[in-house]
Amino acid sequence: MATSKSVDDLSLLEANAELAFLRSEIRRHDDLYYNRAMPELSDAEYDALRARLYAIEKKFPTLISAHSPSRSIGAPIDNSPFAKVRHRSPMLSLENAFSVLDVERFFARAARFLRINPAALEFCCEPKIDGLSASVIYIDGKIARGSTRGNGYVGEDITHNIMIISDIPKTIPIQGEIEIRGEVYMSSEDFNDINSERISAGEPPFANPRNAAAGSLRQIDAAITASRHLQFFAYHISSPGDAVNVETQVDALNMLANIGCSVTEHRLCRDATEVGKFHEDAMAKRGSLRYEIDGTVVKVNSILLQRRLGFSGRNPRHSVAFKFSASEAESTITDIVLSIGRSGRITPVAIINPVNVSGAIISRVTLHNFDTIDKKCIAVGDTALIARAGDVIPKLVSITKKSGNQKFEVPSVCPSCGSPVTRREGVADMYCENRYACPGQVINYITYFASEPCFDIIGLGKIQVEEFYTEGRIKTAVDIFRLQEKETEFGPLSQKPGWGVVSASNLYNSIKARKHISLLRFVTALAIPGVGEHIAKLLTDSFSTIEELVAASSNDIDAIDNIGASLAKKVHLFFRNEINMAHIRNLLESVTVDKDSPNYGANPAGKYYKKIVVFTGNLVGMSREHAKQLVTSSGAIVTSVVSSKTDFVIVGERAGAKLKHAQELGIPMLSEEEFVASVDID
Ligand code: IVH
Repeated sequence: MATSKSVDDLSLLEANAELAFLRSEIRRHDDLYYNRAMPELSDAEYDALRARLYAIEKKFPTLISAHSPSRSIGAPIDNSPFAKVRHRSPMLSLENAFSVLDVERFFARAARFLRINPAALEFCCEPKIDGLSASVIYIDGKIARGSTRGNGYVGEDITHNIMIISDIPKTIPIQGEIEIRGEVYMSSEDFNDINSERISAGEPPFANPRNAAAGSLRQIDAAITASRHLQFFAYHISSPGDAVNVETQVDALNMLANIGCSVTEHRLCRDATEVGKFHEDAMAKRGSLRYEIDGTVVKVNSILLQRRLGFSGRNPRHSVAFKFSASEAESTITDIVLSIGRSGRITPVAIINPVNVSGAIISRVTLHNFDTIDKKCIAVGDTALIARAGDVIPKLVSITKKSGNQKFEVPSVCPSCGSPVTRREGVADMYCENRYACPGQVINYITYFASEPCFDIIGLGKIQVEEFYTEGRIKTAVDIFRLQEKETEFGPLSQKPGWGVVSASNLYNSIKARKHISLLRFVTALAIPGVGEHIAKLLTDSFSTIEELVAASSNDIDAIDNIGASLAKKVHLFFRNEINMAHIRNLLESVTVDKDSPNYGANPAGKYYKKIVVFTGNLVGMSREHAKQLVTSSGAIVTSVVSSKTDFVIVGERAGAKLKHAQELGIPMLSEEEFVASVDID
């Protein structure tokens, strides 16, 4: 089942089919994980499956089934040799957060629910132990029952094994019925010892300490459990009556410690910044702890407020799991597809089982070119290590497990039009040379041509281009300017499904307005290989008309600062190609190019007009996309690399190398606040 499509692009039928698939997959993996201690997926892969399920259910709420894993926790517990026990209150799982911003959102949601100011909330932070949760019931000071979480509502009776875990007290000095919950875990040292023993005995080793703990706790024979040295951290105490009366989570942990339980180091935090600090400290200590942790659990400190918050679905509203986000994760390559770019470049893309890397769900990774496949010997079925740093595009670092399948072969024909592919001199990339007739290429090219840095035609995105192309209404970019005439042949646009009088006339008006175009936008829209907005700006700063640029020699172009010889040659050759020139002539019959035609709506006197701007670090108050839109609509060009040509660098939180580089070059810098003050925001 392909899970690579964006949720927004799914039809109801596709969503329904994918949900059925996800439900059964999640159940299967739950069973493997909880009942058999034999997981096939990494945590990140499992989290990604669930995240996808939630995202689809959120978009298509009518498809939510009462049996969805989003409504239940943990594993189905059929076929278990243990007696079933119903929990006094469900043993839930926590929602994940991956950034301080996510934690802030969690605080805001809790405060909104309670109708109080977030500043009035206090939080108890604890390390998130990577084990499995268990419940122990004491009656009049003695252990009466121990159980696993099971499916969250019904667990398995493992009293005989709970009795032999050394740091679960066998008696406690409290009368009445008391429940203690916590995490059963195996220390890293015991894990290594047990695995060495298993390997020398010819038994399969455990994948990680948590699986080892799970497999050891669910043993019929308590002697086996005893030999595995399980340990326990307590984090919750309650009683149906008033035998336990704690007001805060911090008090609860202190009480647990006083009655003989092991509890982890914890800290009271007053805001997300303090939580972030605890999290960073925990991350720094992570390697030197004797047990594994995978994040911070952040809990509303007041037990009264915890009760008022209750839960929604399978998650309580009072706590969140702030996970350490792996900047790397492993996943399986399920397919390799070929994507064809606007200038004919064929790029292999690996489709992987979705994994969470640095908080983003990744399901596609570009392989750049076929040399990468050759060098790394990549085949479908292989396991790959995927990395992502900051907001950069995910990349395949290495192949960590070979499947033994045949290496992916370089295509000899274009996946879209079937014409032979070529390898251009000196470059690793493969190209389809059928530039103006290959459907895949043309659709991408027309979409690019109509996009924001080029002709900026509002209402003409990829979906509309695909629709018009398939219908025949638009076959080449220049047909955009004949769209209205095409009504005689194809019928009124306003009568097509999804279109109306207003949307059709808006589109025609937007096209008409772009018949006068700046040289910069025109050159950008040609999609000359290697020429994006930034290089197009360098070219149009040096040549005043399209004719001058067309006539320029490689040397003339090479003379421009920041344009190297090989790019200069590519640009020069582009204009020597008769098909490209015919395209330019056709375009010039429909549009007028004016060197100084301003970017639409931009004020030439504005701060960012025709300036090169670079963003670095995270913006807190707005998305990077929104910020880019603001400056580009003021006439700026946004690039990703700081160079001597950069006019401004906008510096967000945790800016890195670009900030340093800009400082070295002495480029004017603006903080987010200064930036916001400098642009018009409606
Ligand atoms: S509190 C509503 N505190 O993380 C569940 N859980 O998905 C409240 N865990 O099932 C649990 N360390 O197995 C809590 N200090 C801690 C924890 C912790 C590990 C586990 C637990 C829970 C899962 C959350």
